[in-house]
Amino acid sequence: MARLIGGIGTSHVPAIGAAIDRGKTQEPYWKPLFDGVRPVRDWIEQVRPDVCIVIYNDHASRFDLSVIPTFAIGVGAEFAPHDEGYGPRPVPPVVGDPALAWHLTESLILDGFDMTIVSDLTVDHGLTVPLSLVYGQPQAWPCRVIPLCVNVIQYPPPTGERCYRLGQALRRAIESYAPDVTVAVFGTGGMSHQLQGERAGLINREYDLRWLEGFVHAPEELLKIGHAEYLRETGSEGIELVMWLIMRGAMDPKVREIHRFYHVPVSNTAYGMVILEND
Ligand code: DHB
Ligand code: FE
Repeated sequence: MARLIGGIGTSHVPAIGAAIDRGKTQEPYWKPLFDGVRPVRDWIEQVRPDVCIVIYNDHASRFDLSVIPTFAIGVGAEFAPHDEGYGPRPVPPVVGDPALAWHLTESLILDGFDMTIVSDLTVDHGLTVPLSLVYGQPQAWPCRVIPLCVNVIQYPPPTGERCYRLGQALRRAIESYAPDVTVAVFGTGGMSHQLQGERAGLINREYDLRWLEGFVHAPEELLKIGHAEYLRETGSEGIELVMWLIMRGAMDPKVREIHRFYHVPVSNTAYGMVILEND
């Protein structure tokens, strides 16, 4: 049977991708960040998942206001990096796992989560930056990837609670897949940040750290946080944190924390990472 071997939460700041692509990771601005995330490289090398389910949001790249799926899953065989204005990132194409993706789709929909099914999908920094953080710069990504894309761009995004419940359904879906594959789930985005408007540059370290502590040890307590609190406390783009709750819902209520790291600033943003295993 398929087995969930762990979860990674990580911000997906595009400047991190640019720093990796341009060989700047050892520069003074970037070194503390890349030193802090180093344990994820060692962890992934150890556990080597066959498949990574990457929960991310599309930033008006593949989807725009003409079509806004709340929850979408990529069932294609390959997903090219999207050109976000500076040419596509020089990273390998993302190879999918159509058989598992269709299984997850069927299981999730029959379990009450009406996924949008996407065959033709390009992926932006929301998905490719986490892969680069975790795997570095390989010739080919060493895992198959299933993109699970969440609307956090256009109000109303799904609630944190709904995301957590989707994660629980995702766990059931993974564990009902007969082939013997190992799976890791990535929850991406956040931490506190606001990219535009009067509060641009907002970073709320205290709130982020408290949220991370709850995320690891008492996730059910985060489920009552509504959109207004995320916006007020973490800025307009801090709402991306609801995507981490999908990963957390997929994990056991009680987890082993392998690594936690928080760093400010990365670009205009707070950066957070956790690595979890089921206890
Ligand atoms: C930025 C963009 C993001 O999508 C994000 O999650 C964090 C930061 C940025 O443009 O700096
Ligand atoms: Fe983002």
